[in-house]
Amino acid sequence: MNSFTMKLALATALGVFALAGAANAQQEVKIGYALAPTSHYGVAAQKWQEVVEARTDGRYTFRHFPSSGLGGEREVIEGLQIGTVEATIVSSGTLSNFVPETGIFDIPFLFRDLTHARKVLDGEVGQAILAKFDDAGLVALAWGEQGFRHITNNRNAIGEPQDVAGLKLRTMENPIHITAFETLGAAPTPMAWPEVISSLQQGTIDGQENPLSVITSAKLSEVQKYLTLSGHVYSPAMLLVSKQLWEGMTPEDQQIFKDAAKEAVAAMRAYVDEVETSGVEQLKAEGMEISELTAEEKADFQKALAPAYEKYYGQYDKATIDQIIATE
Ligand code: PAF
Repeated sequence: MNSFTMKLALATALGVFALAGAANAQQEVKIGYALAPTSHYGVAAQKWQEVVEARTDGRYTFRHFPSSGLGGEREVIEGLQIGTVEATIVSSGTLSNFVPETGIFDIPFLFRDLTHARKVLDGEVGQAILAKFDDAGLVALAWGEQGFRHITNNRNAIGEPQDVAGLKLRTMENPIHITAFETLGAAPTPMAWPEVISSLQQGTIDGQENPLSVITSAKLSEVQKYLTLSGHVYSPAMLLVSKQLWEGMTPEDQQIFKDAAKEAVAAMRAYVDEVETSGVEQLKAEGMEISELTAEEKADFQKALAPAYEKYYGQYDKATIDQIIATE
């Protein structure tokens, strides 16, 4: 072998070795979420991991940071933007601060039921909003969900809008929700989730609002007396990954992450369906005093929210709101 042929053989061998190394290289996906591994978030994250790890033969591995282990939802999303976190499942709490259009889904009493909400999120309006995350330096893969939000508190049972007057109610850092509770005369206190349980324990807030999936998994019955099934707003969730992760993948792996996110959403929705039927009995057994707003009482809340709706109609495209309402 002359020296040129030897160099070529060596370079080829090194190239093959490097390619084999790249194919076997493992990428860790740090995934952060606010609730316990047994919650709807944990179940979805677990399914996402299972499908990705199986279909990539372990080239991607997941490391979970549940129970706000990486901080509040806003901090985790910012972590995705700067590339210190690879994946998350979050509520719509702070999403409208990153992509204002997501706030449309936070409008009170917009969705009739879970089927209606899922249809809209999986349809044209929901998918168009996912695409807008690109401009915020994020990759939104799918809409998940938490269920409909209900009010818990330690002050009084709620049957009419006057019952929330002056109530120190923790809301998410979500301008649409804050406007709604201000309009009802409550004293909304926006706060990141990791501070909520201790604030309820210390009595610096009277209550909070979240779906049954959260109320059960975060054991809010230990710190709250009254649960009002108000269903005042649907609570979507979102599965996001960082651009750094996404742009370092082959198109085939990107498709695997997308398909796996869909399976994670199916697992999350199945969990929510289950807790929507079993949650109330569980919370009753844990000692909460539970009441449900009647259709007339809900209509009174909607009437009281009229000035808030005026603001929302100024902020969001009326045609899109009508399209959402008209979705069957
Ligand atoms: O109320 C919130 O902030 C959210 O619903 C929670 C509990 C963090 C889940 O995303």
